[in-house]
Amino acid sequence: MLKLNLKVMLVSLSLMTASAFAADKVEVIVDVQKPGAVINKDVYGQFAEHLGSGIYGGIWVGPDSKIPNTKGWRNDVVGALKKLQVPLVRWPGGCFADEYHWRDGIGTRANRPVKVNTNWGGVEENNAVGTHEFFDLVELLGADAYVNGNLGTGTSQEMAEWLEYMTGEGKSTLAELRRKNGRDKPFKISYFAIGNEAWGCGGNMTPQFYSSLYNQYASFLKTPKDNTPIFIAAGGNDDDTSWSDTLTKNVREKWNMKFDAVSFHYYTIPTGEWKVKGAALGFPEAQWISTLDKTLRMDTLIKNNVAVMDKNDPEKKIAFDVDEWGTWYDVEAGTNTGFLYQQNSLRDAIVAALNFNIFHAHADRVRMTNIAQMVNVLQAMILTDKDKMILTPTYHAFDMYKPFQNATSLPTTINNNPKYTLGSTSIPEVSASAARAKDGKLYVALVNTNPKQEVEVALNLGAEKVSSAKGRVLTSELMDAHNTFEKPEVIKPAAFSAQAKGGKLSIKLPAKSVIVVAVE
Ligand code: AHR
Repeated sequence: MLKLNLKVMLVSLSLMTASAFAADKVEVIVDVQKPGAVINKDVYGQFAEHLGSGIYGGIWVGPDSKIPNTKGWRNDVVGALKKLQVPLVRWPGGCFADEYHWRDGIGTRANRPVKVNTNWGGVEENNAVGTHEFFDLVELLGADAYVNGNLGTGTSQEMAEWLEYMTGEGKSTLAELRRKNGRDKPFKISYFAIGNEAWGCGGNMTPQFYSSLYNQYASFLKTPKDNTPIFIAAGGNDDDTSWSDTLTKNVREKWNMKFDAVSFHYYTIPTGEWKVKGAALGFPEAQWISTLDKTLRMDTLIKNNVAVMDKNDPEKKIAFDVDEWGTWYDVEAGTNTGFLYQQNSLRDAIVAALNFNIFHAHADRVRMTNIAQMVNVLQAMILTDKDKMILTPTYHAFDMYKPFQNATSLPTTINNNPKYTLGSTSIPEVSASAARAKDGKLYVALVNTNPKQEVEVALNLGAEKVSSAKGRVLTSELMDAHNTFEKPEVIKPAAFSAQAKGGKLSIKLPAKSVIVVAVE
């Protein structure tokens, strides 16, 4: 009798554990019946500023260089970026944009004026890369162009004339000047920003003052109907929502001016302190979690700004475009502090993936973003050293997420999401997003933020039948796993697959990993 009772107790105990496990199982629920907004391909946009070797040396070497190039642009770097399907490139800055005078960058290169790059290292800027060279680059990449105008030290006349130079179709003197400089057809501009960081390097303005200037400048920016860019007002940063509020109140589309988007900047700094930001490599676990915690703030920052914009623009006409984001660390030892050169590790790939998942959830308002920056600056895709080039973990994250460009977002929620905790910081262990791509396939992206433990997630796709998931995983032993010029393939994606059992699909996410799979 006693034996029997013990048996019954043991059986019910094991059943309890099994059901407790089932109840606690991390579940990623994708609502395939309620497609959301299309994730604009431009959410995967890049940023190339005249800053350090972000352009000079990094991508531009000039047509006479021994480094193989096309029209001055490095073939190796352009080739790698083409594979990434870079949809959009922002140029010429950043802070540089508000001191950039477009006429310095046209005509015979040898005759262009040499200026000082006062924002970035005080180095000479010989203007070898100007308007025509920039458009050569985007055309080589098959990308769209985002040009940032100079409001800080330029006039409305100068800005209007640059647009006319680029887009003029007729026989105006400016359109003819463009032709004389080698370009018959107008350049196609997808986005045009009126200034940058007007609250700081762009002129230390108040949002009220800037919004009046926006109205003034925008009134004179005329372009042909079929080549009218999306016009962007320079917005706020971090947790300041006053720019989104003031701009969407004070700037209105009128008969002769356009206003399509408010920009926003947010950088992830491990320590949260600009003076000592934290190292790109060799950091403690405390800075792994603080970095991910800080990057996850992007969700709240977007929500706060969108809440303000929803009041002033309930029809969601105006986009909220995060045109600068990414990690910002202390520069690598021995490099010019003004060049913002930093290494890039698995942690950066996780940062990128977390931000992508956030952007997907806000696809209705966030229609364009630019990671800062494309090559050799801050959270770069590519690092170069003379004729050598390496792909960073961030490059691989962008590569894995390619199917999300122009895919339709699907609402994704996570049940029983465990917390990854260190000291007083706790963050969700799993981050996920899903979308129906243009090829009809369902893609799911998953991130495990815990650097020490794998986590198993059950995919719940409602009525959608699932048999397998196939894609790629990015992970490594070390939190700061990175590629070097000597060892360029230490970290790269590996093939990943999972099979459904009894119609249910579970996926084991290794510690500190990013997974993107097509579910079939
Ligand atoms: O991306 C580097 C700099 O960061 C940009 O020039 C500026 O807009 C921001 O402060």
